[in-house]
Amino acid sequence: MLERCLIAYFSHSGNTKRIAKMIGELTKGSLYEICPQNPYPSTYKAVLDQARREIMNGVKPALKGQLPSLDEVAVVFVGTPNWWSTIAPPVASFLSQSDLAGKLVIPFCTHGGSGLARIATDMERLVPGAKVLRGYATYEDGGQDTIAELTSWLALIGGMKQMA
Ligand SMILES: Cc1cc2nc3c(=O)[nH]c(=O)nc-3n(C[C@H](O)[C@H](O)[C@H](O)COP(=O)(O)O)c2cc1C
Repeated sequence: MLERCLIAYFSHSGNTKRIAKMIGELTKGSLYEICPQNPYPSTYKAVLDQARREIMNGVKPALKGQLPSLDEVAVVFVGTPNWWSTIAPPVASFLSQSDLAGKLVIPFCTHGGSGLARIATDMERLVPGAKVLRGYATYEDGGQDTIAELTSWLALIGGMKQMA
């Protein structure tokens, strides 16, 4: 069972937020939105350029608000849009600033065609001591089959966690 879980996510245009909310409903976990202190620009070209610069330079932007307490949490779903085949920089900030040692970290992403790409492996590097599953990826907002797909995936990883 995926008890005591937190769903932490960053979403620029809403797709990852939609998936995070569904995982929240299905697992009864708490949601935590990762928000950068300085929001990204809304025009596509500007956000593409800024994201590429930040990723190339390993920038971990400051986050808004307090990080959630992880004391009572065993499982952390971490959601990100696929940005240049990896995690969005605010998610790198969240992972670097949180003590996730001993937790189960479950990545999920939305993307425009490249799937998880380097997301799970890049997350792994940022959370030493955590167990990171390969995770779930869906195209853009996931479409109408998302709930069914998520339900099967959660059943599968619920079982995997018990075997771990
Ligand atoms: C800065 C930026 C970089 C992106 N890079 C990729 C990419 O490398 N591969 C891909 O499949 N989609 C890429 N996308 C598309 C997003 O991953 C996709 O639209 C995602 O669903 C957006 O999630 P969000 O609505 O939660 O922000 C990129 C989008 C942006 C804004």
